[in-house]
Amino acid sequence: MFYQQKATTWETHTKVIMGINCVDQLPAEIKQRAPKAIMVVSDPGVSATAFYAKCLSYIDSTNIPYSTFTKVEAEAPLRNVNEVLDIINKTGAELAIAIGGGSTIDVTKLATVLATNGGKGTDWAGYERYPVPGIPFFTVPTTAGTSSEVTNMAVIHDEDTNIKFTVGHATYGSAKVTFLDGSSLASCPPRIIAVCGIDAMSHSFESFISLKANPMTEATSLQGVRLIAKNLRTVYANSENVFAAQDLLIGSTMGGMAFTATGCGHMHNIGRFVGPKFHVNHGTSIALVMPSVARFNFPAQMEKYRQLAEALGEKVDNVPDAQIGEVVAGALRKLIEDVGIHTRLSDFNPMHSDFEEIADSAMVAYKAHYHLKNPRKTSRQDFIDILEDCCR
Ligand SMILES: [Fe+2]
Repeated sequence: MFYQQKATTWETHTKVIMGINCVDQLPAEIKQRAPKAIMVVSDPGVSATAFYAKCLSYIDSTNIPYSTFTKVEAEAPLRNVNEVLDIINKTGAELAIAIGGGSTIDVTKLATVLATNGGKGTDWAGYERYPVPGIPFFTVPTTAGTSSEVTNMAVIHDEDTNIKFTVGHATYGSAKVTFLDGSSLASCPPRIIAVCGIDAMSHSFESFISLKANPMTEATSLQGVRLIAKNLRTVYANSENVFAAQDLLIGSTMGGMAFTATGCGHMHNIGRFVGPKFHVNHGTSIALVMPSVARFNFPAQMEKYRQLAEALGEKVDNVPDAQIGEVVAGALRKLIEDVGIHTRLSDFNPMHSDFEEIADSAMVAYKAHYHLKNPRKTSRQDFIDILEDCCR
């Protein structure tokens, strides 16, 4: 085992409150900050749930005026950011609370940045571009997978240009408090539990084997793999199992905390191009490539794969080193199928030219930054081989 010799940092700014019904601590956290007004952001599905009503009743109990925007759409459109910003500007909200999945949290993040920095959302695209902190915000995730509740960036879709852009900041970009409440997943549909859960698994998995991993991120990401592997099937079967949901949420957030420092690898590099090409969401694109990328990276991290196999629940005491990569790839494939994701890349009848196009894009991203994170050196042909392996 070795670690990179360059100085490395792990910066986290979010107070994590976790436990079943922990949203009962919302009033105490709000009062500590004494905002004049509060902005609550959610989406149509979540805002119709009993969990959302419970959160609102706690916010209501503070007697601090609050406004709500409950129309956040999928893929976090910039239009929603501007709608939330309008309300913040009109009401003078000094605290925002995002109750929902990744889109809701990302819309909230950018609206809070614009509230103090001004300008248009795209003005601050990139990393550490905006000069002053946004208004503070809390996150109450109602899916387990995006990790946006603790990451320091937002991914926003500009519908006018059809381009997704990222706004991030290591010091200012994160929630002040996140509430990981096992009861928050109760109304989450099984297919969302599945795709978010596989995405969460990829965050912990890729962080653990990242070239930028350090002993602190490793401990966190490996426990993330354990918690997700142990609980995802149970929550997929019944999201009202609050105990399993609680551990799944914590596992997902641990992956987010770890990959904030280490980045992800080729599951995300290739998945980022596979998703739009075959019109599938992020979690599904990760599921399509996950076992094959795991198989590809095995020779670069053989020692760690034995730990991953055990964390995935496999018994590997008598398995020779050379076979551990297949055990891990097989365990990931089984998890993906057990949560009802049966789509394979071959189902899209991809052409070889599709693979060449994806390989070209992935190669550019690899040269730009994934070479610092993905553990195995990768050629253009390797990307094509991985994509062909996905069709097996
Ligand atoms: Fe992801």
